[in-house]
Amino acid sequence: MKQKIEQLRAQISAELTAGLSREEFKKLREKYLSNKAGEIPNLMKEMRNVPKEERPEFGKIINEFKVWAEGRFDEIDASLKAAELAGKNASEAVDITMPAVKNDTGSLHPTTLVRHEIINIFANMGFDVFDGPEIETDYYNFTALNVPSDHPARAEQDTFYITEQILLRTQTSPGQIRTMEANKPPIKVLSPGRVFRSDDDATHTPMFHQMEGLVVDKNISVCDLYGMLDLLAKEIFTADTKTRLRPSYFPFTEPSVEVDVTCCECGGKGCRLCKGTGWIEVLGGGIVNRKVLENCNIDPDVYSGLAFGIGIDRITMLKYGINNIHILFDNDIRTLKQFKQQNR
Ligand code: DAH
Repeated sequence: MKQKIEQLRAQISAELTAGLSREEFKKLREKYLSNKAGEIPNLMKEMRNVPKEERPEFGKIINEFKVWAEGRFDEIDASLKAAELAGKNASEAVDITMPAVKNDTGSLHPTTLVRHEIINIFANMGFDVFDGPEIETDYYNFTALNVPSDHPARAEQDTFYITEQILLRTQTSPGQIRTMEANKPPIKVLSPGRVFRSDDDATHTPMFHQMEGLVVDKNISVCDLYGMLDLLAKEIFTADTKTRLRPSYFPFTEPSVEVDVTCCECGGKGCRLCKGTGWIEVLGGGIVNRKVLENCNIDPDVYSGLAFGIGIDRITMLKYGINNIHILFDNDIRTLKQFKQQNR
């Protein structure tokens, strides 16, 4: 019996190593410790055959052996567990030196950036913003703005008509009428938005963006118009941008002007963009026609006004050196991404 124990002890010591797989370890435990047919429980069963007087001594020896064997199995079990955990940690480890997956956020469209910029500039001068409807009546888009139905200016704007009296606005100028109808002077308002004309080439799209400006108060003059637009040009382009007014014609303003700024490409020396003139036309404006004030029940002998209409897409193209208006409407992600840094 003692011999058998020593033999098993040697066997267990030899077979039970830290290099075992979990499977092999389980099998060994079965082999030696299983209550059913394990070698050690079998030894205990054999106690029956030991003479009575020797039993206490053998009992002690077998017990001591069993405790030893269980201790060995526990030790190896612990070291296998430690190795398994280490392996798991290694395979699931996060490499913190790897570049992170970036969450790509969107960016504002350049036209939106310029619209915000213009609104900010005029908000600092005390302007409100009025959002007029894109589907307008003939009255607001034309008649009230001193463009009666037989007026030649109607033919110039290729209007999308919905019915005879309802149309897609061709300009943001109807915002002037709606504002003057709803408010008493003094008025200082901007009306930005989409406008529509049946026109499509390198410099025109059927939908584009305008920003109307209107000031109505006592003693408003061309000087006020010039001062505001000169400030706008210096803020939008560069501080040394110069502005000039050229006489023009719009039915809703008298006198009317077209506003040029020194070419943002060549600084006024003359280049292809400004066709050698050094100047670039950026917007139209003027002193609100007396008839328009009268149409809105504002007394033209007491009040005067200034108005201007800015092509937001045109300003965007000039500011960012975009040579084809369709680039603004293609929504090519490679174009839009270039404006990310401008977002605030
Ligand atoms: N509505 C004009 C256009 O679409 C632009 C414009 C010119 C607006 C002069 C004005 C203005 O308010 O005074 O061409």
